[in-house]
Amino acid sequence: MTDPVITATNLTVRYTIGHGLLTKKAYLNAVDDVSLSIDKGSFFGLVGESGSGKTTLGRALLRAAPITAGEVIYRDDEVRYDLRALSKQQMKDYRKRAQLIFQDPYAALSPRMTVRDIIAEPLEVMGLTRTREETDARVREIAAKCRLNLEHLRRFPHAFSGGQRQRISIARALVSGPRFVVADESVAALDVSIQADVLNLLKAIQRDMGISFLFISHDLSVVAHVCDHVAVMYLGQLVETAPTRALFARPRHPYTSALLSAIPSLDPDDAGNAQKLEGEIPSPADPPPGCKFNSRCPFARERCRLEAPALRELAPDHFGACHFSEEFDFSRGGATGSAKGLQQA
Ligand SMILES: Nc1ncnc2c1ncn2[C@@H]1O[C@H](COP(=O)(O)OP(=O)(O)OP(=O)(O)O)[C@@H](O)[C@H]1O
Ligand SMILES: [Mg+2]
Repeated sequence: MTDPVITATNLTVRYTIGHGLLTKKAYLNAVDDVSLSIDKGSFFGLVGESGSGKTTLGRALLRAAPITAGEVIYRDDEVRYDLRALSKQQMKDYRKRAQLIFQDPYAALSPRMTVRDIIAEPLEVMGLTRTREETDARVREIAAKCRLNLEHLRRFPHAFSGGQRQRISIARALVSGPRFVVADESVAALDVSIQADVLNLLKAIQRDMGISFLFISHDLSVVAHVCDHVAVMYLGQLVETAPTRALFARPRHPYTSALLSAIPSLDPDDAGNAQKLEGEIPSPADPPPGCKFNSRCPFARERCRLEAPALRELAPDHFGACHFSEEFDFSRGGATGSAKGLQQA
């Protein structure tokens, strides 16, 4: 039995672009017909190249990007919200329940506020505490959970390193007691050793506080370490979703396979198997017909240029959007041999 905190069904986020005086009005589906479900308490990874729509999808689930079509349902023990149909009051309440951790801890923190005030601000804006004492107690509680030195609450953010700043950002996101958190590239700007620190903190928070995370990253090796589930995004669409172990053991989509083979390997026998992704990612305003990946896929056939593949369940809880997933083994290294077979077919 699954118990989702967020369920998106056929979600599309469309932006209007280039509507200047001289340019024709055009559209771009930053998120294109995405269905996905995140279980309560899950640490769910979302990966894909730059521009694939990860941030936009994350923001749509927080109602911070417009939902053009489809449905998003949020559920916890107290409420069930249809995000397209929130009253003003519900919207306010949803801000408390669903939060974003920003990518860049340097840009996100106001230099003129003390750490205490930065963490306390959401409580004050949302009116969640009544007295200064209550606010202070809540700030101290969450700062301790985020392993911040309580002495530091009186200081200003410039006094801190990147990792500490990221912990301040995390404390600020968690202070309202959210049940669902989107962490958008939350460790990308940090040194590797500090990344591990912050990741461990996020994992501990997920376990101790039972918060569900959508963890956005373009680094599959980071995702492999922390996420229990992964969704792979390409040009606004999900091409594969699976439990992390299954996705790494046997990718069911050639795009996932290419991303996996781009991870540097420590195994010398493994060298040279990298399956390079040819070409640039096409513009989401003008995606190729059929399967959006066909212009870069080493396996593409006629059908791929004509017909868009649906996301299908190919193994238990393992979904892939490729017409020929059953025919080929896209596992690391195996892909090249299969590609030869394909040319003969
Ligand atoms: N407000 C907007 N108006 C128009 N186009 C937008 C807007 N926001 C995003 N886009 C476009 O939508 C597409 C997806 O962008 P998005 O930022 O979601 O990608 P991403 O996967 O998060 O990329 P990155 O890894 O670089 O953060 C891109 O082509 C982007 O240019
Ligand atoms: Mg992004």
